[in-house]
Amino acid sequence: MKAIISHNYGTFNELKLVTDFIKPDKIPKGQMLIKTEAVAVSPGDVRVLSGACKEMQGPPSFPYIPGGDLCGTIIDMNDVDPSKVGYGKGDRVAARFTIGPRGALGEFATVSPKMTGKVPDNLSSEEAAVLASSATIALCLSRRITKGERVIIVGGGGGVGSHLSQILRLKGTAYVAAASHEPDRMMREPLSCDNALDYTQKDVYDFTEWKKVGVDEKFDTVIDLSGGGWLRLMEQQSSKVDSKRMIVKPGKNGGRYLTLVPDVYNFEMHTIWQAMKLFVFTNLVRHFYSRFLKSTSLPVHSFAMSLDNDVEIMKETLKLASENKLKACIDDRGPFGFTTEGAQAAFQLQASRNVRGKVVISMKNTGDTTGGGKKL
Ligand SMILES: NC(=O)c1ccc[n+]([C@@H]2O[C@H](COP(=O)([O-])OP(=O)(O)OC[C@H]3O[C@@H](n4cnc5c(N)ncnc54)[C@H](OP(=O)(O)O)[C@@H]3O)[C@@H](O)[C@H]2O)c1
Repeated sequence: MKAIISHNYGTFNELKLVTDFIKPDKIPKGQMLIKTEAVAVSPGDVRVLSGACKEMQGPPSFPYIPGGDLCGTIIDMNDVDPSKVGYGKGDRVAARFTIGPRGALGEFATVSPKMTGKVPDNLSSEEAAVLASSATIALCLSRRITKGERVIIVGGGGGVGSHLSQILRLKGTAYVAAASHEPDRMMREPLSCDNALDYTQKDVYDFTEWKKVGVDEKFDTVIDLSGGGWLRLMEQQSSKVDSKRMIVKPGKNGGRYLTLVPDVYNFEMHTIWQAMKLFVFTNLVRHFYSRFLKSTSLPVHSFAMSLDNDVEIMKETLKLASENKLKACIDDRGPFGFTTEGAQAAFQLQASRNVRGKVVISMKNTGDTTGGGKKL
């Protein structure tokens, strides 16, 4: 079958289209064979390819097929009961990876029904792949926010942020602001934030900058999708002058800092000890420190490590989109082609971290690199 493969760890330059990759011949028990139609690229796909987490998340062997989140049509099922999952052979489904982020960028892929949903007819396959990949994460995060909160999303323009702002709006969240190098996009439909600042021009962790654009009250919650925000708040807290400039209320007044990202965005993780330190110990210390020692000066710290992986999230996300309440945000420089050039351009754009929503590769585009999208 056709597939985008990599023979090594490295950058986007490693990706190549081949036409003779072995099609999955046996479907593992409890899984389905999918004819792939679109793949949404994520930060994790770039990280796996880079080898930064090779011992923990790397493929078992090379060459491997990158990409984890997809939309496609079911060709066959092994021990999956259509009456239980609500779809069967010939149906179009969207799936978020459950084992490791790999295998999606092939003509055929095997997926588990654990995070898979039937795609409503009024959604394109490109939209469905995006929704499965990032909008499901955004929906999980939104469940941690209550209606009355004033929220700022740092790293608001990417895959998670572009859908989170919409879902928070839908929930009637009191105030939604964002930091992005494209603040105008954040305030336009469908993202519709109340306010936005460009982090390349302004210090978004300085409340005086927000005051200049009419924000009169500190935020209840910082959602940090770009990383490093907690270190910044700690720095401000240790300086009395800076603490007045902190953008978020302290924990005793309901202030919260919620993140999915370690302090360093491009982190490396090679051992279980490193993984525990990065994701467990550091966050446990911050959890207690912010709640019991510094609740008068710091917001309470939460690392959203165990996002709900239940299939209801997938169903709800696809339903919101099919009812036109949520718009899948596809970066307008794509969808990229199912070609060597297309896959390389898609991974290069994702690695830049300045993505407008999601980077998508469309299997039906086997010619152009960009599928008629705007130039890179
Ligand atoms: N734990 C989990 O299960 C899980 C699941 C999904 C995602 N994640 C993590 O969540 C994070 C966000 O995911 P995503 O898919 O939304 O990533 P993404 O699409 O790559 O978006 C990255 C965002 O970071 C912003 N950014 C880049 N450089 C920045 C800087 N110097 N300062 C401030 N912001 C900057 C970008 O801003 P612009 O708006 O200016 O482009 C963009 O909004 C990633 O680290 C990802 O690995 C974790």
